[in-house]
Amino acid sequence: MPSFKIWFERKDKTANSQYTTLSVRLPLILLACFALASCGHAEKDTHAGQPVTKRKLVFKQILRNFEPMGLIVRGRRPYEKDRFLQYAVELQTLSTQPWKYFTPDSNYAPTRAKPEVWQKPAEFKQAQQAFIAASAQLAEGAKTGNMDVIRADYGKVADSCKACHRDFRGGPR
Ligand code: HEC
Repeated sequence: MPSFKIWFERKDKTANSQYTTLSVRLPLILLACFALASCGHAEKDTHAGQPVTKRKLVFKQILRNFEPMGLIVRGRRPYEKDRFLQYAVELQTLSTQPWKYFTPDSNYAPTRAKPEVWQKPAEFKQAQQAFIAASAQLAEGAKTGNMDVIRADYGKVADSCKACHRDFRGGPR
């Protein structure tokens, strides 16, 4: 059945070329998705002074210092006194910075701040102060080079982040 054979071969070729097209296209499609996703993330903040963008940026910097300290106190990264002190001092500096961007008119998407930020200003302020104080204590503790002290101080900072997020940070909008 020569005609069948030809048909079969043709079909095979088509299938193959489809695979080739897909394997070339798939990474491109994925790339396009990533590009879109990151474009969406960097969506232009058209509000005057861009307070939401600016505070999110500070929180990201906070995390960039807080996270490596977490790995170190859990023994998953080697402890180096100077390096750790650098993270702790940087965190202390950053700890006072996000709050000025919680302006009265800055409750807009894509913020994750809860309305409580504006409804309970005294409590929000208190949560900030607890965090600022805990960060200062960690920066002091980091100077001792004593991991027991550092671990306890780090724990207090972590608690202060968690407490504020529980009360004042909600889901994505
Ligand atoms: C006094 C309250 C408060 C404290 C303390 C606090 N945060 Fe937050 N955090 C917020 C609020 C509110 C938001 C939401 C901001 C927004 O989306 O507008 C936020 C957002 C964030 C984000 C997300 C930023 C983004 O890109 O969307 C990170 C990460 C973060 N916080 C980390 C931390 C870490 C780590 C600590 C402690 C070391 C901490 N925060 C302490 C209130 C707090």
